[in-house]
Amino acid sequence: MHHFCSLIYFFCILMCPKFAVHAQGFESLLQLPRSGSPRTKTRAKRVLSVGDFGAKGDGHHDDTKAFEHAWKIACSFPVRTRILIPAGHTYLVRPVELGGPCKSRVTLMISGTIVAPKDPDVWDGLNPRKWLYFHQVNHLRVDGGGTVNGMGQEWWARSCKRNKTMALTFHKCKNLKVHNLIVVNSQQMHIAFTNCLRVTVSNLKVIAPATSPNTDGIHISASRGVEVKDSIVRTGDDCVSIVSNSSRIQIRNIFCGPGHGISIGSLGKSKSWAQVHNVFVDGAFISNTENGVRIKTWQGGSGYAANMKFQNVLMENVSYPIIIDQYYCDSNLPCANQTLNVKVDNISFVHIKGTSATEEAIKFACSDSFPCEGLYLEDIRLESYTGGITKSFCWEAYGSSSGLVRPPPCLICTDSFIKQKVGLAVAF
Ligand SMILES: *[C@@H]1O[C@H](CO)[C@@H](O)[C@H](O)[C@H]1NC(C)=O
Ligand SMILES: *[C@@H]1O[C@H](CO)[C@@H](O)[C@H](O)[C@H]1NC(C)=O
Ligand SMILES: *[C@@H]1O[C@H](CO)[C@@H](O)[C@H](O)[C@H]1NC(C)=O
Ligand SMILES: *[C@@H]1O[C@H](CO)[C@@H](O)[C@H](O)[C@H]1NC(C)=O
Ligand SMILES: *[C@@H]1O[C@H](CO)[C@@H](O)[C@H](O)[C@H]1NC(C)=O
Repeated sequence: MHHFCSLIYFFCILMCPKFAVHAQGFESLLQLPRSGSPRTKTRAKRVLSVGDFGAKGDGHHDDTKAFEHAWKIACSFPVRTRILIPAGHTYLVRPVELGGPCKSRVTLMISGTIVAPKDPDVWDGLNPRKWLYFHQVNHLRVDGGGTVNGMGQEWWARSCKRNKTMALTFHKCKNLKVHNLIVVNSQQMHIAFTNCLRVTVSNLKVIAPATSPNTDGIHISASRGVEVKDSIVRTGDDCVSIVSNSSRIQIRNIFCGPGHGISIGSLGKSKSWAQVHNVFVDGAFISNTENGVRIKTWQGGSGYAANMKFQNVLMENVSYPIIIDQYYCDSNLPCANQTLNVKVDNISFVHIKGTSATEEAIKFACSDSFPCEGLYLEDIRLESYTGGITKSFCWEAYGSSSGLVRPPPCLICTDSFIKQKVGLAVAF
């Protein structure tokens, strides 16, 4: 951990003096205080503890009913309510739906540990994609410094044989804050936001083995106005994945690795239409991952990925630090070339430094019929981790660069594209 702290510190000094303040944020994150700030404490009008509803917290007794009951009461109170999941206890909880709308604001203080049943068979006959499933809640805060453990080991062992669930899912939630929480070993994605509006995620620690399959850290789908900051994600898949119909997404001050890095997509699978726009990544330290910052689209899809900026990123031994792949295909059979694709437009990469594990530090593999346009590179320095050379690869990639860019860019430069793009952007 000290190693990590010093790396972040180094990163802040090197990359972004204004983030030096945020290093403090990481320090406190690592300590993960066990209780909320005094401010939130005094604001809550009612406090319920799951223990009052029969939860034993011994790690064996099934505490699901107690959680459901506490939620039902809290959600129907006309005053601000806090549900306490006390520290020093482990609560075994089966798949549970915590739904809104609620009468007032609810805070869920997870200070203890919540564990999933070890045995995947518990999900037989239930929706396999849900464990802790929040839906249609407005003004929800999840906090407390405790741990949510998906007990994924048995699921990973049976990897291909069954559908897998996410640890925490928030569906159709609004004005949501998820703060100061540790989420480990989910069966699949750790935290998913689907169809949500206005979300802040901060001081989160998401941990699963590098070898665990599909264990995305934070997954954002069809959501608008999501900010993820001051968090650490070490898993077997994407650190943050942003998929179809999402916009106004900000990621600041995040540590990723191991895993697959920050991904937009995949978009356009099975000829679907998708759009992701206005994504801003500012301040990331990405270490020992398969990709750094990536946009991936399937051939045959449609829609667009546009207006994104990735800046102040430090890479360490990342296989593909900067990559746009419009030929994404994760099936065993090769995917046939198709005409349609998701349009990639107006994507900037600024102030990105560090080391690449492969020669191809910059890779833009764009579609023949829908070339990438408006790509912009500025102040990039990606060297080989092993001391060899690094290269750029471009295919149908249009744009411009400024300042020092290493490896040298291979974009097809056309100023006229910039002018055309303005027209295009208006059409969005
Ligand atoms: C996975 O989920 C899909 C859709 O919910 C279902 O059709 C399929 O049978 C499930 N597969 C397994 C192995 O449970
Ligand atoms: C995205 O939006 C399109 C068009 O509104 C819709 O058809 C599609 O189902 C949406 N996808 C998701 C994942 O919400
Ligand atoms: C390009 O994207 C940025 C956000 O990264 C946005 O501010 C800008 O307006 C976009 N430019 C055009 C021409 O759409
Ligand atoms: C660097 O990355 C490569 C490729 O992912 C990996 O095999 C190697 O173990 C990494 N080196 C270190 C020191 O982590
Ligand atoms: C698909 O198109 C790409 C780019 O034009 C080309 O490199 C590749 O060989 C094609 N693949 C097939 C299977 O035709």
